Amino acid sequence: MMIIDAKKCIGCGLCARECFPRDIEVFKGKAKINNITCMKCGHCIAVCPKNAVSTDEYNMEEVKTYNKEDFLVNADQLLNFIKFRRTIRTFKSKEVEEEKISRIIEAGRFTQTGSNMQDVSYIVVREGLQELKALTYESLKKIGEEMLANLTSETMVYKRYAKMWLSMYEAYQENPSENDRLFFNAPAVIIVSAHSQVNGALASSNMELMTNALGLGTFFSGFFVRAAQGNKKITDFLGVNKGKEIVTCMVVGYPDVKYLRTVPRKEADICWK
Ligand SMILES: Cc1cc2nc3c(=O)[nH]c(=O)nc-3n(C[C@H](O)[C@H](O)[C@H](O)COP(=O)(O)O)c2cc1C
Repeated sequence: MMIIDAKKCIGCGLCARECFPRDIEVFKGKAKINNITCMKCGHCIAVCPKNAVSTDEYNMEEVKTYNKEDFLVNADQLLNFIKFRRTIRTFKSKEVEEEKISRIIEAGRFTQTGSNMQDVSYIVVREGLQELKALTYESLKKIGEEMLANLTSETMVYKRYAKMWLSMYEAYQENPSENDRLFFNAPAVIIVSAHSQVNGALASSNMELMTNALGLGTFFSGFFVRAAQGNKKITDFLGVNKGKEIVTCMVVGYPDVKYLRTVPRKEADICWK
C-alpha cells in the first residue's frame, strides 16, 4: 500500500499529476491515495518534493535521492559503451564472485516491466553447470535428429542448426573440457524467466550492460533457450517458476579476449514521417 504522510504533504499535486492509473487526488490541500488502481510504480514516491510518500510493501531504504554526480551518464560514453560491448565466447578459468552476480541481477530487477508486473525471475547456475550442460546437449541432439528426420521445404533453413547441434554433441562427448561450444567453459549462467518475454528481454539487456561494467563478459545462449523449450528435464532441474517461460540464458565469466575496436553494422532501417 502507498502511504502519504499528511504532515509532510503540501498538497502540490505533483503525485496526482504523475499517477498514471489516476489513484491519487488532492483533497482539502492534501494528497490522498485510494490504493485501488495503484500499480505500485513508485512515481509518487520519486516525484514528491517533500518526501511525503512511502510504501509498506517494498524496502524504502533502497530509495536513493538524486544527485547529478551519481546518476548522470554522458551520452557519448553510453553510446560507446554499447558499441564496444561484444559477445564473449572465450573465458578465463576463474569463478565469478557472488557479489558481482547479485549486481547483475540488481540491474535486471530495476528494469521497467509492463504494468509494473515485476515478473522477472533469475536462476543462477554454477555448481550444477555440468549437469545442466549434459541435459542441454542431450536435448539439442534430440531436437537436431528430429529436425533432420522431418525436413520440409519450410524447415530446411534449420538444417544447418540441426547438423551443428549434432556435431556439437559428438565433440562434447569426445572431450567435454576442450569442446564445449554451448557454454564455452564459462563458470556461470544466469537464466532469466518471466511471464512476459518483453519484460525478460529488457531486463536481460540491462544485465548485459552491467556485466560489462563489472569487467565480466557474457553472451546470450539462444541454443540453450531452444533446448529448454518444452524440455521437462531441464525446466525441472532449474525449478523454473510455473507459468513463466525461459526468455534468455546469459553465459557469464571473465573474458579471455581483448577487443581493440568496435565492429561495423548494417545501416539502421529508419522511416521518418
Ligand atoms: C537472442 C540471442 C541468442 C544468441 N544465441 C547464441 C548462441 O546460442 N551461441 C552463441 O555462441 N552466440 C549466440 N548469440 C550471440 C550472437 O551470435 C552475437 O550477438 C552476434 O553475432 C553479434 O555479435 P556481438 O554480440 O559481439 O555484437 C546470441 C545473441 C542473441 C542476441
